[in-house]
Amino acid sequence: EKGGWSSFMAKEVSEQPDAIANTLRGRITDGHVVVPELTEFGDDVLAGIRRIVIIACGTAAYAGQTAKYAIEKWAGVPVDVELSHEFRYRDPVITDDTLVVSISQSGETMDTLMAVKYAREAGAKTISICNTQGATIPRESDAVIYTHAGPEVAVASTKAFVSQIAALYLFALHLARVRGSLTEAELAVQTAELQAIPDKVATTLLEADSIRQLAQWMTDTRAVLFLGRHVGFPIAMEGALKLKELAYIHAEGFAAGELKHGPIALIEPGQPVFVIVPSPRGSAHLHPKVVSNIQEIRARGARIIAIAEIGDAAVLPFADTVIHIPLAAPLFEPFLAVVPLQIFAMELSIAKGLDVDQPRNLAKSVTVE
Ligand code: F6R
Repeated sequence: EKGGWSSFMAKEVSEQPDAIANTLRGRITDGHVVVPELTEFGDDVLAGIRRIVIIACGTAAYAGQTAKYAIEKWAGVPVDVELSHEFRYRDPVITDDTLVVSISQSGETMDTLMAVKYAREAGAKTISICNTQGATIPRESDAVIYTHAGPEVAVASTKAFVSQIAALYLFALHLARVRGSLTEAELAVQTAELQAIPDKVATTLLEADSIRQLAQWMTDTRAVLFLGRHVGFPIAMEGALKLKELAYIHAEGFAAGELKHGPIALIEPGQPVFVIVPSPRGSAHLHPKVVSNIQEIRARGARIIAIAEIGDAAVLPFADTVIHIPLAAPLFEPFLAVVPLQIFAMELSIAKGLDVDQPRNLAKSVTVE
């Protein structure tokens, strides 16, 4: 079943280009995003949405946090991202012009299911993003966008995560078209960027050998920090989650701008810090800020592992290791930046002799509260 791979996780990481391509299939025609599942609502309903609330847990919630940037920028609708178990127990304000989007690989996560039921009863329209055909959450939702990533067996979510972001980007572009918030030309540019992602993810996978070597040197590491900004921030948190669950190492993700508000106190000589560096071309305003964050923590002895765009020369003098990702527009960098973090967590788990597919204390689908 593993098809020659040493673990399901290794197989599923490698399947990510196909998983994303499968999510996109049938939903882009002649450079236009039309998600057939969304047409059930009628364009007037989608045009009248005043607020979007995304509910999910764990990695799926990080997919939601990542997509918030694109949905707000393209569709111009405010987006809140909430953990399902927090949402349903705090009397959230839900009106009939609220669209609640749930994200769940399994479609069976009890907390998310209960949150969807709550939202529906409160009058919201509900859409689910799900990887499992016919699961409970899609059956309880008004519409479903299946990710079609194929079965995910490893407990740690990888291909489902990138497919969830792809599905949310399709949703955002469909919404932007219906609402007229992007011009035809802008829609075409973003759609082409999305269609280019599977090949770029495939290129990123070629870094696997050097990441394995890095991980093999780090089996005694006690804590790892992850820094990101803008869409790199939820990816930093996802990288930390992967490392906790797979390698049992204390890990935290921070927004790089938050460093001097506290976390910089954690930096001591030798502390490994992964930094997701925004593109110097696409994010010309953010890139120098992150490079200066790198300098600040390097001066305090941090060991910097930078994930940076190919050709980004500014980070080279300050990084101990640079992992290169292909060029992409800023909102599309998460698809690429997350891949080295997945591989790092997987390889460190393997190097420590742990069960990478079945980490201790975890279940693939959490059907209890
Ligand atoms: C992390 C992981 C979990 C799940 C979470 C939600 O690698 O797999 O954090 O993402 O339990 O599961 P689903 O998406 O099935 O609702």
